[in-house]
Amino acid sequence: MIIPIKTLNNGFSLPVYGLGLWQMGGRAEADTTNDAREIGALVGAAELGIAHFDTAEQYAAGHSEELLGQALKGADRARFTIATKVSPWNHHPEAMETALDASLKRLQMDYVDLYILHRFPDAGTPLPAAMEQLNRFVEDGRVRHIGVSNCSAARFSYLQNLSQHPLVCNQLHYNAQVREVETSGVLAQCQQQDVLLVAWRPLQKGALADAPIISELAAKYGKSSVQIMLNWLISQPNVVTIAKTSSLAHLQENLGATTWQMEAEDIERIRAEYPDQRQVSEAIALNYPADVPA
Ligand SMILES: NC(=O)c1ccc[n+]([C@@H]2O[C@H](COP(=O)([O-])OP(=O)(O)OC[C@H]3O[C@@H](n4cnc5c(N)ncnc54)[C@H](OP(=O)(O)O)[C@@H]3O)[C@@H](O)[C@H]2O)c1
Repeated sequence: MIIPIKTLNNGFSLPVYGLGLWQMGGRAEADTTNDAREIGALVGAAELGIAHFDTAEQYAAGHSEELLGQALKGADRARFTIATKVSPWNHHPEAMETALDASLKRLQMDYVDLYILHRFPDAGTPLPAAMEQLNRFVEDGRVRHIGVSNCSAARFSYLQNLSQHPLVCNQLHYNAQVREVETSGVLAQCQQQDVLLVAWRPLQKGALADAPIISELAAKYGKSSVQIMLNWLISQPNVVTIAKTSSLAHLQENLGATTWQMEAEDIERIRAEYPDQRQVSEAIALNYPADVPA
């Protein structure tokens, strides 16, 4: 299937749903036990229409990038948007050069479509030099577009002001339960400044409660609860999402969230009525210490 895309005024686009690779190939360390299964899941995902794959040098200590490289080897590279992330302790220019080189080798690719600062740089990083380095990657063609992740509105603006090239995305923890992007003003910033908010952990790792409002809307739209959760995100302007699944059955269900639009009134009902909401992410709260205040 063709997954709908969202396109910024500057021409950058992402599919509304992409596949995340966190925990494919291990967590903090590489675990090769399930490699054949994970590669099969990635190949199957590409065949089902996934065009945006999201990984990071940190995932499985680089093994997640290796799995993606193996899965897409020989495929039509131009069909895919490959996003990877550089860890905050590697944002110093020389370290970033080494990190990009290593990511490209693991991916078996000569460019990535989207290179993302995984968080705001660690304290002590020379921020103008870090952003100059990111911009150089775009100019030498190894990176097509640059973005950030887990940045508050103030930190996003700070980094954008240091960059010639636009930061096309801010990747953040966002789902019906975890609302820090709303309370912190990051969602509004993305919508006002035409940046894509890439919602990570859209299913709260499968732990989202089947609340009455979700069951009611699932019945109304003839969709599953998971599809309602995903569609609630991507029905909002400038929001796209990435979910992890190694199951093609789950992926098919998730893709069923992508080709329809929730009514505005129902988007607001979930915003208001979803139970047990958190104003701050329990995984990565945006006010972590760094040289620029959140
Ligand atoms: N930038 C950051 O700091 C950051 C942080 C965390 C995550 N991320 C990115 O965001 C992606 C998604 O987040 P996440 O993996 O943490 O959480 P998630 O996508 O909300 O949840 C993944 C879990 O949900 C299950 N799942 C998926 N579809 C399902 C379905 N239809 N029915 C039932 N269970 C389903 C998966 O199991 P199965 O495999 O069995 O389907 C997996 O256990 C990551 O993979 C990563 O790429 C970025």
